[in-house]
This record gives sequence, C-alpha cells and structure tokens, in this order.
Amino acid sequence: MKYLIIGSGGREHALSWRLLNDGSAKEVYVAPGNGGIEKEFRVNIPVDDFPAIASFCRDKKIDMVIVGPEVPLVNGIVDYLQKENIRVFGPKKDAAQIEGSKLFAKRIMETCNVPTAKHWDFTGKKAITDFIKKADKFPLVIKLDGLAAGKGVAIPESVEEALEFINKNVNDLSRVFVEEFLHGEEASVLGISDGINIVPLIAAQDHKRIFDGDKGPNTGGMGAYAPAPVVTPDIMEYTKNKILQPVVDGMRKEGIPFKGVLYAGLMINGNEIKVLEFNARFGDPETQVILPLLKGKLGDILNASIDGTLDKVPVKFKSGNAITVVMSAAGYPGDYPKGDEITGVNEVSNKVQVFHAGTIKKEVSLYTNGGRVLNVTATGDTIKEARNNVYSEIEKIKFKGSFYRKDIAYRAL
Ligand SMILES: Nc1ncnc2c1ncn2[C@@H]1O[C@H](COP(=O)(O)OP(=O)(O)O)[C@@H](O)[C@H]1O
Ligand SMILES: [Mg+2]
Repeated sequence: MKYLIIGSGGREHALSWRLLNDGSAKEVYVAPGNGGIEKEFRVNIPVDDFPAIASFCRDKKIDMVIVGPEVPLVNGIVDYLQKENIRVFGPKKDAAQIEGSKLFAKRIMETCNVPTAKHWDFTGKKAITDFIKKADKFPLVIKLDGLAAGKGVAIPESVEEALEFINKNVNDLSRVFVEEFLHGEEASVLGISDGINIVPLIAAQDHKRIFDGDKGPNTGGMGAYAPAPVVTPDIMEYTKNKILQPVVDGMRKEGIPFKGVLYAGLMINGNEIKVLEFNARFGDPETQVILPLLKGKLGDILNASIDGTLDKVPVKFKSGNAITVVMSAAGYPGDYPKGDEITGVNEVSNKVQVFHAGTIKKEVSLYTNGGRVLNVTATGDTIKEARNNVYSEIEKIKFKGSFYRKDIAYRAL
C-alpha cells in the first residue's frame, strides 16, 4: 500500500518507519515531514492545506492517509478527504471534539460515567474571577476549553497566580473551567477504535517537564517509555472496560462514532483512576515507544479501524521495553535557535533508532529546525537495558546547545 502521513514530528517519522519495516507499506510519503524522511517521500504541503493534500493523494494514488497532529483533525481534515473519496485514518471533526473541546470531553465523561476530576465551568472572565476569589483550596486546576498547544492548563498555588493566568488568557467570551487537583502518577493509554470496538495499546508514560526529576516548565514531552508499570494488568482492564469502551459506545449512540486513536491521559492514585483528558490522535513521544513493541502489521490495524473490523485483527505486543529520549535545542521550551548543524546521527549503533522531529536536511547535511530535534529510541529485555542502549549512544549525536534529560524512565527503575 501507499501511505501519506500528515505531520512533521517524531511521531510521524516513527509511523513511517514502522509501516515501511513491518511489511505494511510499499511507499510512505510524509507531508511536510522532516530531515529523517527520504527526499523523494517528503511532500512540501502544510498540514492545513486540505485541497493540496487531496490532489497529491489523487496524483500519487495514495491508499491511506494517516493524520498525526490534532489541529487538522479538529479542523475537519478527515471529513474533507472522505468527501474526496480518499481513505483516511482518524476521527471526523465532530468526534475530534473530544480533544478539541475539553468541556465536550467532560460532558461525554459525565454521560458515560467515566471517572474524572470534579469541575465547575464558566463563560467569561468575570464569572471565573468571582469563583477564584472565593476559592480556599489550592492548588487547583484551570483549563481553557479549546486547543492551546499545551498552554491551556494552569495549576495555580494561590488566588494571585490564578488571576494572573485568567487575566492573560480569558476574555469576556472564553469558555473555561476549574477542576479539582488530583494527586498521583500519570500514564497514557492509547486505544485504536473502529467506532464500535476499541483495542488498547501498551501503556506508556511520558516526561513533560524540561529538567531531570520532573522540574522546570512543561514541554511537548522530553522522553517516554513503555510499558508503564504503574498501569497494572488490572488497571489496563479497568481502562478498557470503564473508560475507553464506554466513551466509544457513548459517542456512537450520540451519532458521532469515534474512529482512530482515542488516547486517555490518566491519573493513577492507588486504586483510584481518573481521566485528565482525552486526545484524538497518536501521542508524541508515546508513539515512538509503543510502535517498536507492536507485533504484526500496523497497516492491518489502521485498515481495520477504517473498515470497522478491529474485532478480527489481533493486536499484540512483544514482551520487552522501549524508551525514547528527546534531544532538544538550547532554550526550548522558550526561544531557541534553528539551523545548527547536527552530526553523528549515522554513527550510532543499530541498538538505537533515531526518529527525527525538528530537523531539516540540505544536500547531505542535517540541521536543527525545531525545539524538539531528535528522539533517540531503543528497546531491551528490561527497561534498564533499553535505557543503557539509548544513553550509551546518544552522546555520539552533537549539535550546538543540545540538551536531553538523563533520567527518562526513572519511575520504572
Ligand atoms: N485535575 C488535575 N490534577 C492534577 N494535575 C492535572 C489535572 N489536570 C491536568 N493536570 C496536569 O496538567 C497537565 C496538562 O493537562 P491536560 O489536561 O493533559 O491538558 P493538555 O495536555 O491539553 O495541556 C497534565 O498532564 C497534568 O500534569
Ligand atoms: Mg495532556
């Protein structure tokens, strides 16, 4: 089959690597892709140019489009391509609201009896400000309703901090809510759904903060590993039966069937499991550690999601462990330079797989082109072995001001 993947991160490079290596694909194009994608398969079309994407699919006779990031999903890329008779993996616009509107997700969770934090919702600055001024329990959590590229959630420790976030981010029309603060350990369980069935993938845990020990500001993710031992077999069972399946059933009953990746962000505190949020797509960097452990053909699973036949396709995982460590540019998640030469990517041993994110290739040389630059990934029989594989090789890769966390997967060790 011929695939077109939409996006330009490590997730998209990992998807393309997997499809090419497990026999799913003859050709995999990526739009717009990055320096890790071979030149003839890099497609210079932005993720929001739906007509250009459709016309590329017709020209190249693409058999399936896979959408990586949330923004085109929430903007209706799946609806658009389906109308053009192009086969596409991912949720339609109305179903992608589960990520695109956190209040929609809250409403679905309430309807389906899915455990989540208590919340109070507001329209406009005055209403939430009045509520915050009377709040006596901190920290609490403030969430903007819509997509915010990871900047829509604040966890203020005081009224002052809360008002600062509100003054910066909330206007008279904003939809916004306050949520109780939950303690525990976070993990991600991604499930692939065909609108009726949902099959959970191996649980992963990512590391959002920039510095070791989970310190410093939030990022898109500095590393991840799978499986996450905090998600015990019992918790996985519970997540499937009490969270993922009820949401899939509830959305189908409302006439908005969810097809694609339904990603549950969980907070686990002993026996108490609550959903922090849903995403409507593969996680980045979680995908980079889930795919190396998957057995069989990824393409079969994605096809079954589109066809509604997931009950007939086995989804199984190898017994090992996988870890990915993000190399980022100096200054990330703040301002960072671009265009610094990267060396050593071809010198690492075959124990590691390097998924590109913010890279660009010019002639034969590779340069930085984003905040998260590379994902150095390895598997191993134990998490320790996987981790040693990454950290023994990563030093060979160099660029000016490169930075990576030294403690990815510490919770599992
Ligand atoms: N109710 C909560 N209690 C404690 N921490 C929370 C809560 N909600 C969110 N968080 C923290 O904030 C992060 C971002 O929130 P999330 O709902 O995942 O939004 P997004 O990923 O869209 O920014 C979570 O990964 C978690 O660390
Ligand atoms: Mg999140």
